[in-house]
Amino acid sequence: VASFVVAIDGPAGSGKSSVSKEVARRLGFGYLDTGAGYRAFALHSLSGAALPELLESFDYQISLNPDSQQVLLGERDITLDIRGEVAARAVSAIARDPEVRELQLRDARSRISTCTQSGIVVEGRDITTVVAPDAQVRILLTASESVRLARRGLEQTETAESLKARDASDSKVVEFFTPADGVALVDTSDLNFEQSVQAVIGLVEAAQ
Ligand code: C5P
Repeated sequence: VASFVVAIDGPAGSGKSSVSKEVARRLGFGYLDTGAGYRAFALHSLSGAALPELLESFDYQISLNPDSQQVLLGERDITLDIRGEVAARAVSAIARDPEVRELQLRDARSRISTCTQSGIVVEGRDITTVVAPDAQVRILLTASESVRLARRGLEQTETAESLKARDASDSKVVEFFTPADGVALVDTSDLNFEQSVQAVIGLVEAAQ
């Protein structure tokens, strides 16, 4: 059971996924990308079934190993599909539904509690506030909009307009631009990747 939780929230393109993954590797912790669950549900919803049926039939698996981010929807490997434009465009609307959020919340908590490593890094939008408000380390990882757009452009095909629209829509549901009480703000606008990783590891070491 992972008794040490590092909760990391932030907007799209903040670098939180790559930083969280690397921190998990170096600490020997598990890694949970909660956005993958929402993206998987968005792809699942493209079947066109009604919401109660979608909630009932959602069968999703994700690896907690930071080196193997395989995602399965039923038998189908959607590891690459969840990163595409189709998933990115559909995900915010689906993430607004309270029943979908409730399902994702239960799912994330159960994955955290069954992680076999001594600790786990969990990243998303509502980890510090809703999923794991009692986490030993709570961080809001952010960067200026121009830096986020540039970073995302290097990694994924999502357009700047789509990314901005997604952040605007998401931030109406959960607050991830300003840190909640007790949450440390890490602004990576002027930090390179290694410096961002070190900033997070520093906060983890201070809490251990
Ligand atoms: O982090 P990522 O960009 O992969 O998240 C995809 C989408 O999932 C977000 O745009 C948001 O709509 C939703 N999400 C959420 N709460 C989380 C993680 C993701 O609402 N904890």
